[in-house]
Amino acid sequence: MRLTSFLSCLLVQSLAVNVVSSKQWPLHDDGLNKVVEWDHYSFKINGERLFIWSGEMHYWRAPVPEMWIDILQKVKAAGFNTISFYGNWGYHNAKNGSLDFENGAHNFERLFEIAKEVGLYVLFRPGPYVNAEATAGGFPGWVTTGAYGELRNNDTRYTDAWTPYMDRMSQIIAKHQVTNGGNVFIYQIENEFGNQWLDRVKKIPDLVAIDYMELMESSARRNGIDVPLIHNNPNMNTKSWSKDYSNEGGNVDIYSADHYPSCWSCDLTECTGTNGNVPDFTTFEYYTSFQDVAPTQPSFLAEFQGGSYLPWGGPEGGCVNNTGPDWVNVFYRHNVAQKITAVNVYMAFGGTTGIPFPGVGTSYDYSAPISETRFVGDKYSETKLFAQFLRVARDLTKVDRVNNGTTYASNSAIMTTELRNPDTNAAFYVTAHAFSPSTDRSPFKLDVSTSAGRLTIPQNGGNIVLNGRESKIIVTDFSVGREKLIYSTAEVLTVSIQDGKPVVFLWLPAGESGEFLLDCIRIPLVLKKDGCSNIKFKQGRKGFVTSYTQSKGSCVLQFETGIRFVLLDRSAAYDTWVPSLSNNPFTYENTTVVVQGPYLVRNVAIEKKTIDISGDWSEKTDLEVFAPKAVNSITFNGKKVQTRKTLYGSLIGTLKASTHSVDSVKSSLPALTSWKVNDGLPERKAAYDDSKWTDADHTTTQNPTAPATYPVLYSDEYGFHHGNLLWRGRFSGAATGVYLDVIGGAFSGWSAYLNDKYIGSWVGNKDSNGALELSFANATLNTDSENVLFVIQDHMGKDLRGGATIARGIYNATLVGGGKFSSWKLTGTAGGEDNIDPVRGVYAEGGLHAERLGWHLPGFNDAAWKKGTPDTGLSTDGANFYRTVVPLDIPKGIDVSLGLKLSSPTGLHLRAQVYVNGYMFGKYIPHIGNQITFPVFPGILDYHGDNTIAVSLWAQDAAGASLTVDWTVLGVVESAFDPGFEADYLRPGWTDNRSDYY
Ligand SMILES: *[C@@H]1O[C@H](CO)[C@@H](O)[C@H](O)[C@H]1NC(C)=O
Repeated sequence: MRLTSFLSCLLVQSLAVNVVSSKQWPLHDDGLNKVVEWDHYSFKINGERLFIWSGEMHYWRAPVPEMWIDILQKVKAAGFNTISFYGNWGYHNAKNGSLDFENGAHNFERLFEIAKEVGLYVLFRPGPYVNAEATAGGFPGWVTTGAYGELRNNDTRYTDAWTPYMDRMSQIIAKHQVTNGGNVFIYQIENEFGNQWLDRVKKIPDLVAIDYMELMESSARRNGIDVPLIHNNPNMNTKSWSKDYSNEGGNVDIYSADHYPSCWSCDLTECTGTNGNVPDFTTFEYYTSFQDVAPTQPSFLAEFQGGSYLPWGGPEGGCVNNTGPDWVNVFYRHNVAQKITAVNVYMAFGGTTGIPFPGVGTSYDYSAPISETRFVGDKYSETKLFAQFLRVARDLTKVDRVNNGTTYASNSAIMTTELRNPDTNAAFYVTAHAFSPSTDRSPFKLDVSTSAGRLTIPQNGGNIVLNGRESKIIVTDFSVGREKLIYSTAEVLTVSIQDGKPVVFLWLPAGESGEFLLDCIRIPLVLKKDGCSNIKFKQGRKGFVTSYTQSKGSCVLQFETGIRFVLLDRSAAYDTWVPSLSNNPFTYENTTVVVQGPYLVRNVAIEKKTIDISGDWSEKTDLEVFAPKAVNSITFNGKKVQTRKTLYGSLIGTLKASTHSVDSVKSSLPALTSWKVNDGLPERKAAYDDSKWTDADHTTTQNPTAPATYPVLYSDEYGFHHGNLLWRGRFSGAATGVYLDVIGGAFSGWSAYLNDKYIGSWVGNKDSNGALELSFANATLNTDSENVLFVIQDHMGKDLRGGATIARGIYNATLVGGGKFSSWKLTGTAGGEDNIDPVRGVYAEGGLHAERLGWHLPGFNDAAWKKGTPDTGLSTDGANFYRTVVPLDIPKGIDVSLGLKLSSPTGLHLRAQVYVNGYMFGKYIPHIGNQITFPVFPGILDYHGDNTIAVSLWAQDAAGASLTVDWTVLGVVESAFDPGFEADYLRPGWTDNRSDYY
């Protein structure tokens, strides 16, 4: 009886040829090479289609090469197949004529080796402009004076400026292209430069922008880039540089666009201009735009929201909830419904450092799936569920969008998009609430068209459920090895093929019911029951329909052909890892094993009968491994784990609870109590020797905005481009006050002193300029000698895009009551553009007294300083600088994320900067921003040696300032990653040439 039905079933299968006819689309390679090709559907690499699933990181925001492997392993373990990097022109080219690709993280080539080793393709985006919420969008300070024109055009002054950087970048990247044995497969020129049209509707081209793009394209080609060039439009509106849309010059090989449906900033008002005034959690339509602009190319989002940056004034800890796990779930699946087949998630890991722009502080956590602490949580796990599905949903790389609407589902609240592969007839039904912000629980049945005919699923009772902000991709005719899943109402997590037999993992939120039909298969054996209930089998036309209710954990079924199904709930799915034995970014099913339980699985290797797993965990963890039959023992991070084999062929064992915890590490850290202090602002005194400072004496400027008073007091044209700027103006006569208009960027501040005496401060708000008229009533004017007006300003980074040339400095300095300044002097970063700290790089320090003299550096001798702590602080205006040196000895075998936690009494107007071994890792302005936790990377911190922690504390008024600095332990896990690596070269010490920069 059974046999007959099985045979007739096979017969039906052979008749069920049901291929939809499809339009023929051209396959492009643009005459470059055959390694990378593309068409209407997707990218092809080495002849094989790949859904590009990329995550972004910035090495210059994580300037510790020894740490990069940790990030890239986590990116790979989340299921990404590609990583994308921005360059940063200013970081590599502090001074016109000198490039640095050698010192510290300026040499980033290790990234390409790691990408190869872990199995990630690479998208590289050198600039010259990157935006990236970096100062001047990545432009070096020297380019922003106005002397190079408006920038981002074909002005020869600007062209000559960027050419050496872009040439060198291309030469470096060329070595790592897929055509040269590396993993870089596409290369982006410029960034969000959607400027091809003066009038897009009338298609009137912008010839200057076109010339600029052509100059960059020829730089790339001339220097060995032979992979396709791409460009990302800032949104769907600009429609630039697509060969399908434009007959003008400047087109790139492959068009792409960026989109941030829930805003790139935690301040949602920044995005209403682009996104409109839409309700929170609104999804957008992309399909029509891509079919209009680039129909013969893959629909490619070169940036898609992975989080949002924290602006000054934004919520403490960022806006994680704006793009939490539910958001990941819905918005990434929505992109699939839009027939998108290439996505770069911005950011996968945001990082941190002292490279701010006026909107953001030193954190660039971005609420990304991998936090700036390097640790991961539910958002990462939810990203992984989607990514692991994408990896095995190989038929998704060639789909037509058949239809969409609310009639597929029995519940009209549900919008379904049907995508179908014209070759295999596999279909993907993306289901979501038609009103994406809906929080309703919506049960439904779904009409699908399969090789077993048209079905309404689930067939045997129960429903598919979307519980609020949730989306599900229901697959039909989904290939699992040589077999076919005719449908499943539970989502596919992964498929791993071992000993030639697939293990299929399906997941559902606990409490929901699932149903699937495997082509032509008889009743399976239920080999593990605990994670499911109500398991039922009902014969249908094409085999037995399995239905079940998912509970916490997993259950296992095995069918007669040897195929196994592991049915699991969301939290078990979160703890499921699919590492590969190969470093091919395609990560084929027959190269993977499945490891369940730990916090992280980085890598696996099989040696004879032993599988060695490297990864991280902390609590006591049940470990379960689905590996080939021959494997009978497990080592985890090199240590043997007692194991036994289950009935259904997996190995199980237990990882013992770590003896280390956040508390144990916290209690082992040295107290930050023994500080030394020195005056941080001696320049305020009239007698201060400023003879070595730069004369600010320009009487003309090329800046597009002329100052209100002369000499020109714009710092960039004197070679100082970031950090604090210090000005001294001299005058004689009987002025009664001064009017100062100082440009420091949004949330900047300044303080002024006359002849040693504090006369006032601008404490900052969102305005770029701070203008005040200050009285000299409380100061004493010299009648027989010159007076000195001292101004310290906090520079918050330079503005983005067209704002990059907006000056920093003093726009207007006018004496009130008569008289004129006779001279001005200026100082900033020691050495200016000469970058005397090439390892830490040009952005590591500004012009504070302590920075110029290197007090923030390891090895500076503070023996002559007094004892004093920042939590005592200053009782009046001025600035102090504090240092302490503390040893760390973090136990081996664990990964620890450390940070500093800052706090101060409310109501004070203070600006503090915290340095760790010479790196500025925290900017704290409590009346402006809410960030209090500042993670510090290993390598910046020496985990087995002395560490110099330093604090600049600037009190902006007579109320004074104080600051409590304490450690915070942001994560502790047993780990295969050793954060105690040797990296002395990243922490060069004080040298006596610093003494020249008083
Ligand atoms: C810039 O492009 C415009 C438009 O094609 C052209 O007229 C101009 O000569 C170009 N400038 C330079 C310096 O090449």
